[in-house]
Amino acid sequence: MKTPFGTTKDGKKITHYKLTNQSGMSVDIINYGGIISSMEVPDKNGVFGDVVLGHDNIKDYEEKSDYFGCIVGRFGNRIAHGKFSLDSTEYKLFLNNNGHTLHGGQKGFDKQVWEAKSFENEDTLGVKLSYTSIDGEEGYPGNLKCEVTYTLTKDNALQIDYMAVTDKTTVINLTNHTYFNLKDGGNSSILDHQLQIDASHYTPVDEGLIPTGEIIPVAETPFDFRQPKPIGKNIAVDHVQLNYGLGYDHNYVLDKTDNALEPISKVIEPESGRILEVLTTEPGIQFYSGNFLKGNITGKHGITYQHRTGFCLETQHFPDSPNQPHFPSTVLKPGETYQSTTIYRFKVQD
Ligand code: BGC
Repeated sequence: MKTPFGTTKDGKKITHYKLTNQSGMSVDIINYGGIISSMEVPDKNGVFGDVVLGHDNIKDYEEKSDYFGCIVGRFGNRIAHGKFSLDSTEYKLFLNNNGHTLHGGQKGFDKQVWEAKSFENEDTLGVKLSYTSIDGEEGYPGNLKCEVTYTLTKDNALQIDYMAVTDKTTVINLTNHTYFNLKDGGNSSILDHQLQIDASHYTPVDEGLIPTGEIIPVAETPFDFRQPKPIGKNIAVDHVQLNYGLGYDHNYVLDKTDNALEPISKVIEPESGRILEVLTTEPGIQFYSGNFLKGNITGKHGITYQHRTGFCLETQHFPDSPNQPHFPSTVLKPGETYQSTTIYRFKVQD
């Protein structure tokens, strides 16, 4: 179902798409930022509830969003000092985060209006979004043609397929920044959610949340989520990395060794019985525990988002990869196709 979603400050009309599958799960998407604005999934009693944070109008997305539900690009997470070099040319980006570049810069993909087309197949339905970022936009080289396809399947999974091509060598790292709260969509803390991530290593950061370049074991640290544990269990431990992140805000190096689409993370919310499974082709995932939410944003359903009332699991290449030659490469060359897939799949506890 397609409905108008208001007009941006610069006069662009925004459209809202509602996808509903055979079991009643729905996903709402707007073509401003490719934002997932709602996801209604059943709990253990079959009661549907919205499990993502966001707004119900375009003005609030433009004025008071913290990357809620959006597509992040051209480069997810931070690039140190907003600088990188390719073929001995240095490129400079807008510094929007304490002297560094975060999530694409001043006007990243989250603030662009995407072209949208809905589609329906026998068992699935979705929206295909397209956006061409022109050569030099936000300082990045190359005309970058991107397509992001959201597909809702009959088994309560939302599949996100990313595709891009360029006409000049560039860097790219696309992700989605949905904040989940499987209990109540952001009305209460996420600290009781039980998280599991198939990662025995992570990339520690400095005070500016830039990776130091090390890849270190999670074993015997608060970062060990190899077995499910409540997000809040060790979050208050006095650990330098938790102090820098103000909680969890770290890239996990997934144990899988190829780029096959595999389950890599699971979240269980014990009260509602809702389960979220994450599958990805990416080598990393940013686990962000909503540390910068501080009760100054009121979203849909009249909910004011307090500290740690949403968490993000952003599948990605590692932050600052353009400056870390030993990290998996984020370089895209003319003639190559960037492709990446992530699935958020919902289940309930038996
Ligand atoms: C980053 C956080 C940042 C947040 C934006 C996350 O992906 O890792 O440091 O504050 O996005 O809300």
